[in-house]
Amino acid sequence: MTKRAADEVGGVLLLHPVVGLTKPGDVDHFTRVRTYRALASRYYDPLRILLALLPLAMRLAGPREALWHALIRRNYGANYLIVGRDHASPGSDSKGRPFYDPYAAQELMQQHAGEMGMGMVPFRELVYLPDEERYEEVGKIPPQTSTASISGTQVREQFLSRGKPLPAWFTRAEVAEILAESYPPRHRQGVCVWFTGLSGAGKSTTAEVLTELLLEAGRQVTVLDGDVVRTHLSRGLGFSHDDRDTNIRRIGYVASEIVRHGGMVVCAAVSPYRATRGDVRNMVGSGHFVEVFVDTPLEVCEARDTKGMYARARRGEIKDFTGINDPYEPPEAPEITLNTLQASPEENAQRIVEYLKGRGFIRPENGPSAES
Ligand code: ADX
Repeated sequence: MTKRAADEVGGVLLLHPVVGLTKPGDVDHFTRVRTYRALASRYYDPLRILLALLPLAMRLAGPREALWHALIRRNYGANYLIVGRDHASPGSDSKGRPFYDPYAAQELMQQHAGEMGMGMVPFRELVYLPDEERYEEVGKIPPQTSTASISGTQVREQFLSRGKPLPAWFTRAEVAEILAESYPPRHRQGVCVWFTGLSGAGKSTTAEVLTELLLEAGRQVTVLDGDVVRTHLSRGLGFSHDDRDTNIRRIGYVASEIVRHGGMVVCAAVSPYRATRGDVRNMVGSGHFVEVFVDTPLEVCEARDTKGMYARARRGEIKDFTGINDPYEPPEAPEITLNTLQASPEENAQRIVEYLKGRGFIRPENGPSAES
């Protein structure tokens, strides 16, 4: 498209990507600029292209944003702006209706081009013609021609998250490689397995078995166990509502950083308050958070009383003890609920592994070739 546009007006291409705030789900600008650099240096005549960055936050104001972008580029010395389909479009509203007609930006540009002293090179949507191995605008292809296209969502869901390489007709190999690095397949993305349940419910025991299974499956794991965390990260905190919240938020913060870097983290703390667990889920990102409710009844935990703490709490020696004199708020929609009476820790851990496999967070047993 850029080459066609430059040829059409006999111009030199100012490749002028916006680097700044944009909408969630867009490819981040660091990745985009790496792809532009690869393209500019390898696929264009160096005397016919200039790559420069435009620090600007997208407003997604559709047609009026197109005018604004045109004025800005005019001030950078450009004579024309390429306006494609849906320029700066915010997509659809809450009822699924598009905010703007896909070519409304081109119409508004047309109206004001003279006044702005800025021409436009309009483009309709381009599609690929596999039989002819070339791209063409949708309006210019004869009926019955077979066409191919891949949407942005498909790029992420059908290709990148499955570790499947993007086809050569869709993008240059250099760009495919940069995108694959920025968007690793699901089994190399981060995930947090968050155990919650009463003291003595079996969180740590199940977490230990789970950790072994995850290591066997080829994932590195960080374990953040409440009892251990309280000896360093949360040392000095007690069991008041505030202190527990601080404890859980600290664990959640560390977990979110691990997940952001593509790691797997297993957290096991009582985490009795629903709202705080919800905050942690948001911090980590819901798609990467697996809440595991270890649903062992209080009577059973109390009967087990491995640390003798329930007895002490009943005698009034510990105040604010979860389940006795401080509330435990069970999750309303946990990803997994475990029964520790009818299933062993091994069986429960295996269930979590199967769940993670189903979500793609663990590579299938027959190895990397299976997914390409
Ligand atoms: S949380 O509420 O902040 O999530 P966390 O999991 O770190 O708690 O620590 C819970 C462990 O601390 C329990 O397994 C128990 O051994 C011990 N503990 C000591 N006092 C209390 C208390 N008041 N309530 C619950 N657990 C307590």
